[in-house]
Amino acid sequence: MARPTTTRARTERRVRQRDFWQRRYDEDPTFFGPEESDFARWCRPILRSEAGLREVVELGCGYGRDARYLSSEGFHVRAVDLVRRSEPSSTAPRAAVEPIESDCLEFLTTLPRGKVGAVYSNMFLNMDFTEREHRDLMRAIHRALAPRGLHLFSVRSTSDPWYGRGRRVRPDTYDPSPHRVTMHFFSEAYADRLAKGLFEPVRRTERSEGGSDFPIRLWYFADRRVG
Ligand SMILES: C[S@@+](CC[C@H](N)C(=O)[O-])C[C@H]1O[C@@H](n2cnc3c(N)ncnc32)[C@H](O)[C@@H]1O
Repeated sequence: MARPTTTRARTERRVRQRDFWQRRYDEDPTFFGPEESDFARWCRPILRSEAGLREVVELGCGYGRDARYLSSEGFHVRAVDLVRRSEPSSTAPRAAVEPIESDCLEFLTTLPRGKVGAVYSNMFLNMDFTEREHRDLMRAIHRALAPRGLHLFSVRSTSDPWYGRGRRVRPDTYDPSPHRVTMHFFSEAYADRLAKGLFEPVRRTERSEGGSDFPIRLWYFADRRVG
């Protein structure tokens, strides 16, 4: 059983995350833009080439731009976030998905074992998680996925221009100004360590995004459940 201090620290980090993202989306309901992410477009052919894949679970879906896109591509999407956002009316969904308000780890543990075709997340796993929490999440994703199911995720990279800025919180984890939200930056080796014994690589690439306004660098991972 987790020690009380660990549980309290975990809860405090969740509350900080929720308050931060709640404020961001209140200020700008389409903070990341009204369209789906580049990562969702990268995943589309991978998802479509999987025979019989119907169900996708999205973790940390924000205001649902990628959930809406994947749903319009014909997948049955269940999307989860700490913050509950309705779709902004200006981006009137062709295929709306009503997000589920929950901590992702708690949500994953409610799913039946081995049923989901794909677990998807864009810039979620690089949020304020310790290595132990990352390991818990990877195990919970593995448990929820069907045999040979896909785990698709994008994360901020250690070669991101924001890496190392602001206050250092843990290894590869910083509060970069001006946003003051804690982020974990992924090296390829860290992702491989987390996946060891649970997932094997299908495809991966490192990409720059955000143009000159807000340049960031992301790892895109498509992994397959083993075991
Ligand atoms: C960088 S935003 C990305 C949002 C969305 N994936 C997108 O690309 O538009 C990260 C999201 O993760 C959510 N989040 C952070 N920690 C979470 C947790 N433990 N459980 C569920 N959602 C979480 C935040 O509320 C936020 O909406």
